[in-house]
Amino acid sequence: MIHFPTVPEEMGNSKEVLEETWRELEKLYDNEKIRALGVSNFCCDDLENLLEICSIRPHIIQSEFHPCQNPAQLRQLCDEVDITFCGYCPLAKGRILHLDQIAKIAKNHKKTPAQICIRWSIQNGVCAIPKSRKPVRIMENSLT
Ligand SMILES: NC(=O)c1ccc[n+]([C@@H]2O[C@H](COP(=O)([O-])OP(=O)(O)OC[C@H]3O[C@@H](n4cnc5c(N)ncnc54)[C@H](OP(=O)(O)O)[C@@H]3O)[C@@H](O)[C@H]2O)c1
Repeated sequence: MIHFPTVPEEMGNSKEVLEETWRELEKLYDNEKIRALGVSNFCCDDLENLLEICSIRPHIIQSEFHPCQNPAQLRQLCDEVDITFCGYCPLAKGRILHLDQIAKIAKNHKKTPAQICIRWSIQNGVCAIPKSRKPVRIMENSLT
């Protein structure tokens, strides 16, 4: 997975570095060293630029996705070109769990705010990758 669509200035032109990097990833894929190709933090323009030059399309894109961050256009583009949209920070790093609306929905459904956020991703057809260092929360998050 390419983590970010731009590189620090001293590394050269982002577009060229990106293309060179993608070509190397394609070789690894062709040689069966890796099973999937992905990008992360790409906006629609970044993705469209990559689609123009690639021989193998990304299989997955990882992008921030939670009830306060919903890149609808990017998701639509991914649907159109058959790229799996994977949402990172589904709990917004814990920052949205205290929001009144989320707390209210959680109470109505007898779930926790974290479970509501994860369920929101799933019901939007997006795979969510929540993270916790606490086993009890990992269990809670799996029971959405
Ligand atoms: N591709 C990218 O650029 C990118 C960027 C950011 C993140 N990611 C990936 O996305 C995944 C998740 O990201 P993230 O950890 O930043 O965000 P997150 O899953 O939205 O939030 C994690 C935070 O929420 C807390 N938390 C987890 N479960 C909870 C629960 N049930 N109740 C209350 N608080 C809870 C955690 O604290 P505790 O640990 O104390 O439970 C932690 O502070 C990771 O795998 C990460 O690598 C990818």
